Amino acid sequence: MDLQLIKASKIKGKRVIVRVDLNSQETDKIHYRFLSTQKIISFLLKNKAKTIIVLAHLGRPESDKHSVKINQFDCYNEKLSLKIFKSILTKLYHSKVFFFKYSVFSERFEKYAKSKKLPRIILLENMRFYLGEDKNDIDLAKQIAMIGDIFIDEAFSVCHRKVATNNAITKLLPSFFGFNYLLEVKNLDKILQKSKRDLVVIVGGAKIKDKSEILIKFIEKSSYILIGGGVANSFIKAAGFEVGRSYFDEMAIPNFSKLDFNKIILPIDFKVLEISGSTKYKMNSEVGTTDRVLDLGNLTVQQYINYIKRAKFVLWNGPLGYIEDERFAIATKLLLEFIKNDKTRKYVLGGGETLDSIAQFAPSIFKQKNVFVSTGGGAMLWYLSKKVKN
Ligand code: 3PG
Ligand code: MG
Repeated sequence: MDLQLIKASKIKGKRVIVRVDLNSQETDKIHYRFLSTQKIISFLLKNKAKTIIVLAHLGRPESDKHSVKINQFDCYNEKLSLKIFKSILTKLYHSKVFFFKYSVFSERFEKYAKSKKLPRIILLENMRFYLGEDKNDIDLAKQIAMIGDIFIDEAFSVCHRKVATNNAITKLLPSFFGFNYLLEVKNLDKILQKSKRDLVVIVGGAKIKDKSEILIKFIEKSSYILIGGGVANSFIKAAGFEVGRSYFDEMAIPNFSKLDFNKIILPIDFKVLEISGSTKYKMNSEVGTTDRVLDLGNLTVQQYINYIKRAKFVLWNGPLGYIEDERFAIATKLLLEFIKNDKTRKYVLGGGETLDSIAQFAPSIFKQKNVFVSTGGGAMLWYLSKKVKN
């Protein structure tokens, strides 16, 4: 599909469906991802869209054991309902956001979609409450398309997945891209043109399955890949070390024994939570069977910073530790501190949790000239991995 930006002339009197990304742990504060939806919504309001129908997702209800099949949702989960965003979006858009809580497969929705008097902004329920979302199901897309005249994709951070609300729906309605989506593409392309091999990639966070294959694509194209966060546990386990009671999935790393560990750099020390509840710094070889590995150690952080100093261009996705607990946010904070004071290298930082850590520990980075902040984590890595030139 061509990257066609939405134009003002297409909007007036139309019912416009907009796919955005509100996926965030932060439900009461204004997250960077929410801010990045503001421009398209105010543009639509200003250019007299009749109704704006907002589509988004939260979490992964399809694999959550608390999700239930109910009221024409496949995996409804109270905790992941988008109703929590209603008031924060109302504030952000300076216009009342109406939350439609019923399934798009319900009779209520079908009647609603035909109604001539719809609210100005409608937020539909979590798109991942339907299994059809991930399956790129045309029947789900048809139900949603009933309520709109045109479609805008403003969710760059979902571009690594072909889902019903960014792919199937584009077969049914005239479709365009939003400002933020194209801004992300433009910035990532620009940065790539400038970078050659002086690239260091830092990958942390938890989503090992999503990241490992992409990461392997970067091996040829970068100087070093530094591994942290939950992703590190899987690598460390696959390398034969103990990770105790930590989460890991070493099967998610294909062809581990063939990887080039001159380029992929694994942590040498960690901060662990012992079974007694106390924390301790330990070398790889000292981690015990009852420990939980929750942060990188100071030696590793220092080593990683030395690698970064050799690079001209740095890509970072995913925190280095379990930042929800401040005791294990130390490595992430140290790295943010380094970036905050470094005005020479170019940085691309992205992903939901990475954005949270910037907001919490080093918000000035959002405005830093040599840093581009992407809403996408997996999406940003995926997009760049397709385009990085040798
Ligand atoms: C993200 O948080 O990376 C995006 O919202 C996509 O979510 P996902 O990783 O659960 O697909
Ligand atoms: Mg992510």
